[in-house]
Amino acid sequence: MQVRLVAHKDYIISKIDKRIYGSFLEHLGRAVYEGVYEPKHPDSDENGFRKDVMNLVSDLHMPAVRYPGGNFVSAFNWEDSIGPKENRPTRLDLAWKSKETNEFGLNEFITWCRKVNTEPIYAINLGTRGIDAARNIIEYCNHPSGSYWSDLRIKHGFKEPHNIKMWCLGNEMDGEWQVGHKTAYEYGRLAHEAAKAMRLFDKNIELVACGSSQDTMSTFPEWEREVLDQSYESVDYISMHKYWSNSDKRSDDRELGKHSTTNYLTNSIGLQKYISDVESTINFIKSKKRSKKDVKISFDEYQPWYHSIEFMNEHLNADLKDWPKAHPILEDQYNLLDCLLVGTVLNTFINNSHIVKIACMAQLVNVIPAISTVKNGISWRQSVYYPLYFASLYGRGESLKLKIDSPKYSSDNADDVDFIDASAVINNEEKTLSFFIINRSEKENSELSFDLYNLDIEKIIDQQIINHENIYISNTKDNPNAIIPKNTTIVSYQNNELKADIPPLSYLFVRLKLK
Ligand code: AHR
Repeated sequence: MQVRLVAHKDYIISKIDKRIYGSFLEHLGRAVYEGVYEPKHPDSDENGFRKDVMNLVSDLHMPAVRYPGGNFVSAFNWEDSIGPKENRPTRLDLAWKSKETNEFGLNEFITWCRKVNTEPIYAINLGTRGIDAARNIIEYCNHPSGSYWSDLRIKHGFKEPHNIKMWCLGNEMDGEWQVGHKTAYEYGRLAHEAAKAMRLFDKNIELVACGSSQDTMSTFPEWEREVLDQSYESVDYISMHKYWSNSDKRSDDRELGKHSTTNYLTNSIGLQKYISDVESTINFIKSKKRSKKDVKISFDEYQPWYHSIEFMNEHLNADLKDWPKAHPILEDQYNLLDCLLVGTVLNTFINNSHIVKIACMAQLVNVIPAISTVKNGISWRQSVYYPLYFASLYGRGESLKLKIDSPKYSSDNADDVDFIDASAVINNEEKTLSFFIINRSEKENSELSFDLYNLDIEKIIDQQIINHENIYISNTKDNPNAIIPKNTTIVSYQNNELKADIPPLSYLFVRLKLK
């Protein structure tokens, strides 16, 4: 299959906000306890933070982490999670039917963020709480001293303010499952008033209003329209969430045509439409209000999520006498197809970097994870870790608008889908150009030729590939390196021609030095 990819130095989409390579840590399952926090683990530091996990997070150059939920946050009292640990109450978490001991709380999260060099994004509870809790937590976190809440923080051992810049105004408030679910009007008003109070404290913070929890919600996109109508001038971002399932996951029949696993890899086409629809809604409200202000998108939850659903439902439907702590739910083990899907999702964020400014892989550890751990044992990278790794390390700079001439195919999700999906990022300071490419074809190699206008290549610095003969293989505790990137030589640069011969169902990362 012949494919042509065209790029031009002057055709820039946008400067990329590095926070599109963020992640998410929720008090859910073993994400916090046995994930980032396990004081008895032999490789934990003086705070009880697992050093092996911190190393894997640091390797990602993680720019931002959203916390503490998720559905969890909608019935969470932030005050439970501060002060001496022995005084913190154990509560029942209604979202995930678990016991929350609050041993790891607000100050531990900030300490952990500083250690892994990431920016905190803190979600407040607009389910059971409201403006009062919002004004108090921001005073606790960000005021230097001389007030009730700031002095309490100092008493708790944190002299310097945390200076949390990014705040989410609740979570998925459109969802019936949410404790304190609201109509779009009710939520839009509350988000506006909470934002107003928080901005009276500090006008420079950045605030995210909840968009829809999926584009399949019956209230989408009317939810966005109403919420933005109520809150446009007081928020900076509207959130988007999306999880994908591969219903053919048990099929190893690669001849199923429309219902083959290739179907799964066209989900990024729907994602593009979802982003464009939200962007249109933002623009509609901006015009309606004759506003000069721009609201952007925080895509603060995305991931494949299907391998562990049955076990989660069993837990949530069980008639439990006692609620467990750190129950191992949502522990998906991701395969090669999931890795390729995440590659196309990250490409979609890069290709929409003019409007998508924040994105958080949901989640970071153990729960629909990038990283998995064994209690008292090892940690390892899931297959979805790797596309995030390449994008985060080498996808900083400006995104280039690409033209791709590729053979196409149709699936249940979309027609005329290019077999080749790609994004490109130029870094003018480092004089580098990076490509992130996925071959969606199940059968054919893609012979890719590059037409790069005004982009003078000096040499190929790096080329790595992720593929496997078994597309359903996962990285597990017994085989943690089943799917790993490998150095390759499939990309060549000779006589001023850049070419790549990309095998079926593979992810390719190429980094070029420019003259
Ligand atoms: O990430 C898991 C859950 O998915 C989050 O708690 C919620 O926001 C979403 O529905």
